[in-house]
Amino acid sequence: MKPITMLDLKAEFAQFEGDVRRVIDEVLDAQAFIGGAQIAQLEGSLVDAFDCGHAIAVSSGTDAILLALMAAEIGPGDEVITTPFTFFATAGCIHRVGAKPVFVDIDPETFNIDAAQIAAAITPRTRAILPVHLFGQCADMDEILALARRHDLHVIEDACQAVGARYRGRCAGTFGIAGCFSFYPTKNLGGFGEGGLVTTGDADFAQRCRQLRNHGQTETYLHAYIGGNFRLDTLKAGILGVKLARLGEFNAARRAHAARYDEMLGDLDGVRTPVVRPHNEMIYHSIRSLCAGATRSRRRWPRPASVPHSLFGSAPSPTVLRRPGISRGPTARQRRPPMHPRAADSPDAHRRGHHPRRRMHQSSTTPPRSVAPGR
Ligand SMILES: Cc1ncc(COP(=O)(O)O)c(C=O)c1O
Repeated sequence: MKPITMLDLKAEFAQFEGDVRRVIDEVLDAQAFIGGAQIAQLEGSLVDAFDCGHAIAVSSGTDAILLALMAAEIGPGDEVITTPFTFFATAGCIHRVGAKPVFVDIDPETFNIDAAQIAAAITPRTRAILPVHLFGQCADMDEILALARRHDLHVIEDACQAVGARYRGRCAGTFGIAGCFSFYPTKNLGGFGEGGLVTTGDADFAQRCRQLRNHGQTETYLHAYIGGNFRLDTLKAGILGVKLARLGEFNAARRAHAARYDEMLGDLDGVRTPVVRPHNEMIYHSIRSLCAGATRSRRRWPRPASVPHSLFGSAPSPTVLRRPGISRGPTARQRRPPMHPRAADSPDAHRRGHHPRRRMHQSSTTPPRSVAPGR
């Protein structure tokens, strides 16, 4: 029996190999590896695809978040409201600019930040709300944007898992001052190496992002700000351009797989998948299911001294999925812990019940999601 892989990138590659090799040859022939036509073309295509004002291609999703926070001038003394159910980069970047992540619990149905609880977390130091469109479903943007307007806050969307997702017909990443995307190889628009994107509708913000992407350079060798090297390679941009043309098709394939998993898992007691809100077009970066009653280990993970805002949770044992007909091999267990305001700031945050839904992190599983034909 042929083993099922989590994500069959080889099969996917076979579908556009010719175009990718042609783009690689073009770049090799030109021997121009930084900037150039491929970057401009990719950014132009992304503006069209997402219907956003500006697209700034960058070196990774992490750098996209960092750059957006820097461009919004968020720094020491500021607080940024976000979700604890995310990849480490979200909160890590908030720390890197010297600000403090303030975690708000998740909605148990969608696993996204619970917009109804955000207002209570706003303080005079709050500068931004940073929702994460987890697994490819947008957070409740109407409520988040209304709160942001009321309190004069930036909204920076972590859309790293939501390339092509829509909310009320509009693309993820086009609601706040910035949308941050990842082109990590396993993402829906997966590059050939690291890559990312910042989108914005604000021309000044876009210009600042472009300057910060290049060490704050405003003219040759004139550096008006401290930025970084956040550039995307020309070669990777060309390849992403080829794949972007098929993003809609690939996202549709993921949706079909997800529907199939829903069908197959629907009759299993104690297993449920995220509720997709009717106004959301989810693109299933990963297809998650929750296993109620899955056993939780009591292991306490050590908190590295240099990481003030993380809690390392425990590995689940998704026994519910170990049934005939459901392959256990390719099913990745979710071992990622949530991030809580623990230790440094608030040692008793859990006991005070700040994040009662943290158990959900400890009991979710991911089945395979390849998009190549017949997979
Ligand atoms: C929610 C979220 N934010 C940020 C990132 C960081 O993106 P990258 O790995 O491209 O730096 C990821 C990547 O997994 C992510 O899933």
